[in-house]
Amino acid sequence: MKWAVRRMTAHDIKAVLALEQQIPEAPHWTLSDYERCVTNSSESLQRTGFVAEAKGNLLGFCIGKLVAGIGELESIAVISKAEGQGIGRALLQALAAWAQAGGAARLELEVRATNVRAIRFYERSGFRRESLRAAYYQAPEEDAVLMGKSLKSVGNFPEKRIAIRPPEC
Ligand SMILES: CC(C)(COP(=O)(O)OP(=O)(O)OC[C@H]1O[C@@H](n2cnc3c(N)ncnc32)[C@H](O)[C@@H]1OP(=O)(O)O)[C@@H](O)C(=O)NCCC(=O)NCCS
Repeated sequence: MKWAVRRMTAHDIKAVLALEQQIPEAPHWTLSDYERCVTNSSESLQRTGFVAEAKGNLLGFCIGKLVAGIGELESIAVISKAEGQGIGRALLQALAAWAQAGGAARLELEVRATNVRAIRFYERSGFRRESLRAAYYQAPEEDAVLMGKSLKSVGNFPEKRIAIRPPEC
């Protein structure tokens, strides 16, 4: 399947919401949460999202923010039929490149301690486990694993498949 990663826009939000609702492990946000990601920005907090699509169909997305020189991955999900094709990694690389272009030296994230699949994916993408935050998640209550990586080693990503514009939201 030929797919490409591009910046999320307001037109993607309904499809992103429908996709994350199919994926239990993904953070579940409201329509207005997503709208804020593509429309709101300030000097102290920038947010953006990226989507992966093939022939106009959404395959995955990620959302991240940049605060005080640190990038944070807030959400990432790929539909099950498209997993294992490098889409998650390409989304992560797009976010890392965006954060790095905005001055971030690190990318951080929190993940449920039982989400072993995502933790392995992050480790394969260069993140290291750094600490645990007890009972951070509710319903069900669960610890968060805090992971991070330096962005000095982001490296190049396949330019033909990924279009990145400078930070703007
Ligand atoms: C985690 C997730 C985003 C990975 O997306 P993906 O497109 O399948 O991942 P990729 O194909 O880009 O894989 C990238 C690397 O992670 C590894 N990886 C992916 N899933 C893995 C798994 N289940 N177990 C072990 N390694 C895994 C791949 O082997 C690959 O490493 P390699 O290239 O060095 O071999 C996807 O499985 C998902 O959407 N999960 C549900 C939502 C979720 O848990 N989100 C995280 C919480 S916010």
